[in-house]
Amino acid sequence: MTTTAAQKSNDANPALGLDIEKVRADFPAMSVEVHGKPLVFLDSGASAQKPHAVIDTMRRVYESEYANVHRGAYYLSERATALYEGARDTLRDFLNARDRKEIIFTRNATESINLVAHAWGRSTLKPGDEIIISEMEHHSNIVPWQMLRDEKDLVLKIAPISDDGEFLMDAFKALLTDRTKLVAITHTSNVLGTITPAKEIARLAHDAGAKVLFDGAQAAVHMPVDVQDIDCDFYAITGHKLYGPSGIGVLYGKEELLDAMPPFMGGGDMISSVSFEKSTWAPLPAKFEAGTPAIVQAIGLAAAVDYVTGIGFDAIAAHEHDLLNYTTQKLASVKDLRLIGTAPNKAAVVSFELGKIHAHDVSTIIDRAGVAIRAGHHCAEPLMDRMGVAATARASFGLYNTRQDADTLVEALETVQEIFG
Ligand code: ALA
Repeated sequence: MTTTAAQKSNDANPALGLDIEKVRADFPAMSVEVHGKPLVFLDSGASAQKPHAVIDTMRRVYESEYANVHRGAYYLSERATALYEGARDTLRDFLNARDRKEIIFTRNATESINLVAHAWGRSTLKPGDEIIISEMEHHSNIVPWQMLRDEKDLVLKIAPISDDGEFLMDAFKALLTDRTKLVAITHTSNVLGTITPAKEIARLAHDAGAKVLFDGAQAAVHMPVDVQDIDCDFYAITGHKLYGPSGIGVLYGKEELLDAMPPFMGGGDMISSVSFEKSTWAPLPAKFEAGTPAIVQAIGLAAAVDYVTGIGFDAIAAHEHDLLNYTTQKLASVKDLRLIGTAPNKAAVVSFELGKIHAHDVSTIIDRAGVAIRAGHHCAEPLMDRMGVAATARASFGLYNTRQDADTLVEALETVQEIFG
């Protein structure tokens, strides 16, 4: 059934350049059955499934290439160090950072943003300084700034979005003042799928004298990211949404900013020297990587990046765009279904309400048909308030999904309608 479904999707879109059957065969989870049905995994926005390339790489490292990094004068440690630092080079290329020193390994995008709040924000910002975020931020790009606001007596301003979920540039411009010191905006909304005009936001922020950070946790999965072209100061991504392992993320930061910032955490590997009187810091990037890092996870993330770049974002984006259009059209036929987030420029993330049926009920019922979606506030409670909903159901697509997956979703939603009459 899985093969037939994949074939159907491929037949429908012969020009997309993505060999969907091969891609699905790369992901063991695509052969899993749940409740006796083939898994239809539509929750990649929460965390994506992993290809053999990642699983096999991590297994190989744990089995035969593992030791601590930067510490051992012996073969295995040197080998692990080379792989770990090689992963940094891969991520440098992936984000097109100018220098490998600008790639800091963290636990996830949340930690990347917290690193900026603690190390840059605390040392730089003064009472009355302003930070602008938007109405469609994930909690990870709200709460660290609220904490900093309360500690440093800052002003947190909220850039509005339209009812469709579009970022409103004119309203954003009107919020910029000479007190604006940071603009921290999502590059792609995890709920609405909206892709924000990052380059234009960065230009306006810089014109106002502010630094700019993008939360790219959802964006880097769907499209190529070029931090030099965007000209952002900071960019946060996470590994587990990018078909890589959990426990690993990246903070990109411009070298001069990272250089001037104090460390985020203290411990091993981030020092140059330590005495009881005084410690001094290691140069970048080690200054921000205290303690034994997530060695195998970083190497696994690099394997994931090699995997997606091997397929190519042109093919991935075309395939996902087709899935988004197809799914949006199919959902239009479902009675009482209301889409939340219809911005013209969006990634393959589809949030919706189904009449008065609670999103958790929707999710639980369609799970019986093998369909995995996420339901709830998606760690974006202020956005739920903005859109006037308590919760949404959300189908988020990855490169392994097919049109047949969208068909199965629609059939399952029609069953929900029948159950609730
Ligand atoms: N931030 C993740 C999501 O959107 C967990 O589901």
